[in-house]
Amino acid sequence: MADEGWNPKIVAIICNWCSYAGADLAGGARIQYPPDIRAIRVMCTGRVDPLFIMKAFNDGADGVLVSGCHFGDCHYLEGNYKCAKRMFLMKNVLKNIGVNDKRLRMTFVSASEGAKWGVVMNDVINTIKELGPSPFNR
Ligand code: FES
Repeated sequence: MADEGWNPKIVAIICNWCSYAGADLAGGARIQYPPDIRAIRVMCTGRVDPLFIMKAFNDGADGVLVSGCHFGDCHYLEGNYKCAKRMFLMKNVLKNIGVNDKRLRMTFVSASEGAKWGVVMNDVINTIKELGPSPFNR
């Protein structure tokens, strides 16, 4: 259960070519979602080092979202496949250190899916609110 008056800090590491453009489209279309997301743009989710995720949690993030191109659409062909494997691994690492693995999520949002970006953001924020502050922050 979330603490009263607490707002989560969520780091979103997003691919330049799809999810960043999708987020931009959501902004242009005035799709509303809470301002709890701090976005970091990378050229491809294949660039997401597991250390980025641990650093985000260590620096106070309550949740981390990695969002990129759909499978088959990665501009670097297999970056999102490599990232998905790393996410699977990182979820296991989190579980093994006693952190709920729902705090880390990977999604796939294309440049034309601004509405989906809004839905994903609300879902991620609600999930983290239900979990409460990260154990790294207590
Ligand atoms: Fe978007 Fe690789 S370019 S995930």
